[in-house]
Amino acid sequence: MFGQLIEKLKQNPKTIVFTEGEDPRILEASSRLLTSNFLHPILVGNEEKIKTAASETGYNVDKATIIDPDNFEDIEKMIATFCELRKSKGVTEDQARETLKHSNYFGTMLVKMGYADALLGGASYSTADTVRPALQLIKTKPENKIVSSCFILVRPGATGQNEVLAMGDCAINIKPNEDELVEIAEETVKCAKLFGIEPKVAFLSYSTNGSGKGEDVDKMANATKKTKERNPELPIDGEMQFDAAVSPKVAEKKFPGSEVAGHANTFIFPDINAGNIGYKIAQRMGNFEAYGPILLGLNSPINDLSRGCTATEVYSMAIITAALADTK
Ligand SMILES: CC(C)(COP(=O)(O)OP(=O)(O)OC[C@H]1O[C@@H](n2cnc3c(N)ncnc32)[C@H](O)[C@@H]1OP(=O)(O)O)[C@@H](O)C(=O)NCCC(=O)NCCS
Repeated sequence: MFGQLIEKLKQNPKTIVFTEGEDPRILEASSRLLTSNFLHPILVGNEEKIKTAASETGYNVDKATIIDPDNFEDIEKMIATFCELRKSKGVTEDQARETLKHSNYFGTMLVKMGYADALLGGASYSTADTVRPALQLIKTKPENKIVSSCFILVRPGATGQNEVLAMGDCAINIKPNEDELVEIAEETVKCAKLFGIEPKVAFLSYSTNGSGKGEDVDKMANATKKTKERNPELPIDGEMQFDAAVSPKVAEKKFPGSEVAGHANTFIFPDINAGNIGYKIAQRMGNFEAYGPILLGLNSPINDLSRGCTATEVYSMAIITAALADTK
């Protein structure tokens, strides 16, 4: 799976900002990236501290670009751009100068101003603190109304082929409405395709094809209908329970005639509770590796790491994030 993304990047190499430049996991992943030429790391932080941390941990990041917010030659231009972007909020020059001392905002501005193609943060920042600067400064693509997210789940299959699934939105929108679910599904489909999935999209619920009643059932049924109307070429169905989505036997009984039920590989959850719990069950009890949250709908790719991440996860997420840079 990563081979495909790396090939894409080799044809059009990218640069990626790491907001936590001194973190040993970031240094390890960067040193690995620096052994090839498809993705160049930009480490945000104090140069001396980064170099000391690198020599203490034994990772070679000599060829990485290091940018220190306290010592950035274009800081006045960045402050002016920040004030312009946030003028509707009445942000003053002093407030901008103070905010840009924080590497999450500084790093996001590096992407916004074109010094880098993508950003990966969150080794120590919370999800909200990594995502908020992106929402405020990078903003949604013109054709999108919301930023959402998906996870890609990968499990080696018995025949040696990976089982690859997509799940959205498990991390950003707390209680999406019908139209937001349509957007989440369309963005999750685009991301799934990037990972070689031929999407069969199931809108999940506690009800299958009208078997249960309730507001959330109606929400998922209506979102299915709208998504189908907008994307007649895609296999999409719902609302359906998870067993009907993945078990051909159950699908035969609960949702006969559905081209998705029993074979779904792209799952749209009704809200963040269901999604977040759902992907973690697959990860912890189903032995799937989980990549994400992958943010969808932003003008430039910004992604969030789990604070418990490993260097290998940083490396993988950096490749995924950069590969999203040319996705329309
Ligand atoms: C993403 C999240 C952090 C945004 O929260 P927040 O910063 O408090 O949001 P606010 O309502 O203050 O909005 C901040 C800005 O982001 C924008 N925004 C918020 N949610 C957005 C979305 N889904 N898409 C696009 N823009 C969004 C707002 O419009 C606002 O922009 P503005 O400052 O230019 O007006 C919030 O939705 C959240 O906490 N989600 C759950 C995250 C989580 O805990 N996930 C589980 C672990 S992975």
